[in-house]
Amino acid sequence: MTVVASTTCIAPFATVSGCDSQVPLVQGGTCTYANFDYAASAPALSAVTDRLTELLPFYASVHRGAGYASRISTTAYEDARTSVSRFVGADDDQVVVFTRNTTDSLNLLASAVPGDVVVLDIEHHANLLPWKNSRIVEAADTVSETVWRLAVELQRAPAALLAVTGASNVTGEVLPIAELAELAHASGARILVDGAQLVPHRRVDLASLGVDYLAFSGHKLYAPFGAGALVGRRDWLDAAEPYLAGGGAVREVRLDHTEWACAPARHEAGTPNVLGVAALAAACDALAGFDSDAVTRHEEALCSLLVDGLDAIGGVEVLRLWDDSADSVGIVTFTIEGYEPGHVASYLSAEHGIGVRDGRFCAHPLLARVGRAGGAVRASLGLGSSSDDVERLLGALRSLVENGPSWVHAKTDGVWNPSPETRPGLGAADADASPCV
Ligand code: ALA
Repeated sequence: MTVVASTTCIAPFATVSGCDSQVPLVQGGTCTYANFDYAASAPALSAVTDRLTELLPFYASVHRGAGYASRISTTAYEDARTSVSRFVGADDDQVVVFTRNTTDSLNLLASAVPGDVVVLDIEHHANLLPWKNSRIVEAADTVSETVWRLAVELQRAPAALLAVTGASNVTGEVLPIAELAELAHASGARILVDGAQLVPHRRVDLASLGVDYLAFSGHKLYAPFGAGALVGRRDWLDAAEPYLAGGGAVREVRLDHTEWACAPARHEAGTPNVLGVAALAAACDALAGFDSDAVTRHEEALCSLLVDGLDAIGGVEVLRLWDDSADSVGIVTFTIEGYEPGHVASYLSAEHGIGVRDGRFCAHPLLARVGRAGGAVRASLGLGSSSDDVERLLGALRSLVENGPSWVHAKTDGVWNPSPETRPGLGAADADASPCV
């Protein structure tokens, strides 16, 4: 009997910017860029760029002008709160504060938390470093044991907040948010979810999950125009010192006294990023209009193809935190025996036009705990990804393992690059602008 291998073709779920971009190859010629770096910054959805094209002719000051364009911009800015709030299922007590990104949102909340914060040791630095009074819990090898450890710590001493990732930016694994919310509330704490990696991939409903605060970024949510959001309960945000002092955050200023506004204005001083915020709202509206189960199925099918393909390549190891995680989003991180992660990333980019991220992903403690303090390679995907992209990545990795690279790649000051670099448009690395690891 002849067995014919069948490959199901999985098309992109939605149109994103750059999906047809041609990129140069180090050996000459060009190819279509294959983007596997959605977890760092996702390309813009076409609905987002359409919205910006519509709004740009009316771009003007927000909250500061009577001109028609200024009124349109102000309306776009304030209406965006409704889109974001509806998209994440916020309730009437939860306010939407616009920020620059998840890191900014978490720093804002850190300035408002009235007590200790319990966190896991596997968090992104943005959900580790801002907390002033943090109590760090070591994650276990299973989700269930990890949840139990958090419960023990929450019961041991009063905490104001449990701050957890929705989905790991390294392994994509998802934590049981509703269960953690119940645990936090049972101990008198609130819960913050770092939704940077979860919100672009799964529908998050704050009310049904019981989540008090959610932080996320536009640049990972197909709206890469510099806005993010903190959505959460109003009382701490109204009581906190203004995050940024200045115009727009006040009701009245005398030289000897300032009367601050309530949230959200309290924390949004200065002229706001109306285009970024409108882009974020457009992304929320567009994603809300998609069938979320179909989005999940698209991503799961691509991830299975990728993980099965990686498992079949000798010397490749896919990283996981937990033996029993029930769900993960489109993030797959791996190492290849005999190759430094930066070497693999340089090879994929220069010789195959494939973009991945390598390093420690701003999660150094996590990489150390999975025994990969030297870093790893991360392939992350999303709405614009297809099975063709996955096959290209797997083919390139198989070729690397079987034949080695076709070009020389060299490491200088910790960064791998093809040597010589022949691709146009790539400036010399600035020694002062060290890459984020
Ligand atoms: N936090 C982003 C990442 O994981 C930048 O790549």
